[in-house]
Amino acid sequence: MNKTIVITGGAGFIGSHVVRQFVSNYPDHTIVNIDKLTYAGNLENLRDIENQKNYRFEKTDIVLQDELNEIFNKYKVQGVIHLAAESHVDRSIENPMDFVHTNVTGTVNLLNACLKQWDNDYKGKLFYHISTDEVFGSLNREGYFVESTPYDPKSPYSASKASSDHFVRAYYNTYKIPVIISNCSNNYGPNQFPEKLIPLSVNNIKNNRPIPVYGKGENIRDWLYVIDHARAIDTIYHHGKKGQTYNIGGNNEWKNIDLIQLLCKVMDKKLGRKEGTSEKLITFVKDRAGHDLRYAIDSSKLRKELGWEPSVTFEQGLEMTVDWYLKNEGWINRITSGKYETYYEKQYKLR
Ligand code: NAD
Ligand code: TYD
Repeated sequence: MNKTIVITGGAGFIGSHVVRQFVSNYPDHTIVNIDKLTYAGNLENLRDIENQKNYRFEKTDIVLQDELNEIFNKYKVQGVIHLAAESHVDRSIENPMDFVHTNVTGTVNLLNACLKQWDNDYKGKLFYHISTDEVFGSLNREGYFVESTPYDPKSPYSASKASSDHFVRAYYNTYKIPVIISNCSNNYGPNQFPEKLIPLSVNNIKNNRPIPVYGKGENIRDWLYVIDHARAIDTIYHHGKKGQTYNIGGNNEWKNIDLIQLLCKVMDKKLGRKEGTSEKLITFVKDRAGHDLRYAIDSSKLRKELGWEPSVTFEQGLEMTVDWYLKNEGWINRITSGKYETYYEKQYKLR
């Protein structure tokens, strides 16, 4: 059956992998990418599939309700996978309102567009909201986030994502609109904007620039290869139960400083440098305000009920990621030569 699925934020990091996967795997479905192309949106991420017959792009801000309604009416949309968001914690500390507009208002606008377009006929329809493990707050050394862990967001970013999750559930309860939510841990891989820890560090190591480590580097994150997240999204979209939440994670916790040291070793090898060379670039800088100590996801519900498993180990994923950034120098240079530099100077006053 021919279906039209909207993917929001498809020009961003995770969204571009999800768009590629759906365009390639479902040639009978039309995939409409809605993206505003903020600093984080880059159509170059989709160059290899942009001419596919089942792909469309609509440059729109999800804060604009009328434009969304028009697009939904134009394509007779049946499914939505909602990734568009302001996604960087440090930027949310600088500019919380941007996060309220896109993450909260934008999500409610999309829900409203679905309500209007679907008009109580929910057969074959789905609103799938992509969220983060950061809504659960911060863990101490022990324990895991499960689907029923109470929300306790600590940053303006996670508070805006938590708020959007609440709206999605409220629309399910109130208007019976079919929804699914997934909460994923930290992603890494090709096409990630170089303001996030791994691509930023790869780029700095390559250019012999300091690697800024916040605080003492003791914070812990659970890392998942982006293509495994995209595979999980595909599985959940097609086999998840309406009204349910699924946690997605790599079962792969790393202290920031340990991860950076491993990355330095991989980079030394790839760049033909003597082991220990890149580690000298590690520079401890002022900690992030309200820095969450640890995130760790229990994804056993997704593994048991829907049979998803990550396809690569962290060592494999990290090596593929480093190879990608080294091979795609042009991609990263085009980003770092733009506005990003001004932001970088402001953010990283090394102390
Ligand atoms: P990203 O910042 O790389 O991409 C976001 C995309 O959304 C960009 O293409 C941007 O142009 C677009 N966008 C932003 N504001 C918009 C607006 N107002 N209207 C239309 N488009 C807009 O983000 P990402 O890392 O790919 O994250 C995607 C989603 O996954 C987000 O919802 C994020 O909360 C969630 N998530 C991310 C991670 C992670 O580690 N990156 C982990 C778990 C969940
Ligand atoms: P980040 O990639 O921003 O993801 P998130 O804040 O959503 O987890 O950061 C990952 C971890 O790395 C987090 O603990 C903050 C830390 N970090 C640094 O130490 N230095 C950096 O330059 C950045 C961007 C992050």
